[in-house]
Amino acid sequence: MRPIEEQLIKYLTDCHAMEVQALAQMRKAPELAGDRDVAAAFEVHCTETERHEELIRERLAAYDASPSQLEDLLGRVSGKGFVLFAQLNPDTPGKLATHAYSYEHMELAAYDLLERVAQRAGDEETAAVARTIRAEEEAMAIRIGESWDRTVAASLRDREAGEHITDYLADAHALEAQSNALLDRGPKLAAGTSLAAVLENHHAETQGHSELLERRLGELDSSPSRLKDAALKLGGINWGGFWAANPDTPVKLAMFAYAVEHLEIGAYEHLTRTARLAGDGDTAMVADTILPQERAAAEFIFGTFDDALNASLQRG
Ligand SMILES: [Fe+2]
Ligand SMILES: [Fe+2]
Ligand SMILES: [Fe+2]
Repeated sequence: MRPIEEQLIKYLTDCHAMEVQALAQMRKAPELAGDRDVAAAFEVHCTETERHEELIRERLAAYDASPSQLEDLLGRVSGKGFVLFAQLNPDTPGKLATHAYSYEHMELAAYDLLERVAQRAGDEETAAVARTIRAEEEAMAIRIGESWDRTVAASLRDREAGEHITDYLADAHALEAQSNALLDRGPKLAAGTSLAAVLENHHAETQGHSELLERRLGELDSSPSRLKDAALKLGGINWGGFWAANPDTPVKLAMFAYAVEHLEIGAYEHLTRTARLAGDGDTAMVADTILPQERAAAEFIFGTFDDALNASLQRG
């Protein structure tokens, strides 16, 4: 077997585990969505996800390979963690939508890369499957991205907007801390690729985001223990599970960083809307300042995929 085919099988195995994780999430998501339209979108995507799992299993079989039982098991476990995390939050619909938005972008990235690897291997069939699935992941990501008003409203069913603000600021702070840790190590792993510079740039921005959030929390007189609680809550879910939490190649790092940026985008989309509903213009301004930088970072990271893939394939 050619080395590029061995690589392709690895990508297919990862995609399969990712779909197993997605299935665990999609089966539970409709009942937690808190909004009829959003729940319906999750239901449709659950059926699509079942099909993705089948399609990828078929492509593995074409190479006489089968899904990795261990990776699939880990996917199943971390899929449940994601749902549990959303369930334990006072704004379950918002947390669910934010995480699903990020997850769909991770899938989109994974299939974008699968297509590129398949093309390099001359496997047009796998490339076509990757394109088909990618389009459905992207459509789902867009649907969630058009639903923020609904998921904000659903999150306000048992709570006033104002009661969410300090929690949301602290949750965002925990995300920035996680992102900061990733960006600390990232440039070294991505050395020699365009990804390194993109990550370095965003590292500086990320530190600015943490400061903005801390200042706003200080103005609102929030206790420092709130920051610790938010960090613990986030740390407990092992977000992204098995392969993304410990990226070991530039391309996995690019994919994970891309997903993390979308986690942040979802968080600030909820923060800005909730703050405006609460009449808290200063907090809305903080979110509106940070949001375009997260969007730009995500786009820049996406632009480095090909370069990161080449470097990763060379390293074997
Ligand atoms: Fe999928
Ligand atoms: Fe998906
Ligand atoms: Fe960011």
